[in-house]
Amino acid sequence: MSADPEHWDEIYRQRTDSELSWSRADQGRSLKLLSRLAPPPASVLDVGGGRSGLAAALAAAGWSDITVLDLSSVALETADFPTSVARIVADVTAWEPERSVHAWHDRAVLHFMASDDERQAYARVAAAAVAPGGVAIIGTFGPDGPDRCSGLEVRRSSADEVAGLLGGGFAFEEAHEEFHHTPWGVSQQFTWAVLRRH
Ligand SMILES: C[S@@+](CC[C@H](N)C(=O)[O-])C[C@H]1O[C@@H](n2cnc3c(N)ncnc32)[C@H](O)[C@@H]1O
Repeated sequence: MSADPEHWDEIYRQRTDSELSWSRADQGRSLKLLSRLAPPPASVLDVGGGRSGLAAALAAAGWSDITVLDLSSVALETADFPTSVARIVADVTAWEPERSVHAWHDRAVLHFMASDDERQAYARVAAAAVAPGGVAIIGTFGPDGPDRCSGLEVRRSSADEVAGLLGGGFAFEEAHEEFHHTPWGVSQQFTWAVLRRH
């Protein structure tokens, strides 16, 4: 179900950004992590980036090699990205990267991979996509986060679980806890995990 593009296209057709539970006022945490761990000229792949403002914020801050991948063509067609941002419509679990990147950024996508098969496929693609020495920065619902989102079952993770999932190809570097507040004021626990590709 998570890999049903029509489900997400419909959400992006029907809702404005302020009606999306995952909308955030600024890109602070992602920008801080990427500035420290993969500053320009590093290449950044925003996995499941949707219509997030991250790509535009990165471009404004000096990154020039930015790609946003998403299952939803509607999200990418209606996103307000600079023309320099590359857009890829794909299911991340089935995607075959044509080149590697320095940074894999995922905010609020991994938790939609609810089955072991989907999660293992995600981990395989991350290993194929991140260059040696590069980073995976993953923000996902934490152990006390919601158990459903956008009408879908989700799977919550601790930082150890994210590190275990990505496995031997990455070394765990750091973890952070964040409480995201939806536009209507509900608090959601997120785990952020940073892993370094061997
Ligand atoms: C909760 S939204 C997060 C959007 C964005 N990362 C942000 O922080 O604003 C989840 C996004 O993941 C995308 N998505 C869901 N399953 C996916 C998959 N299997 N492959 C690629 N994108 C996926 C959805 O289309 C949606 O844009």
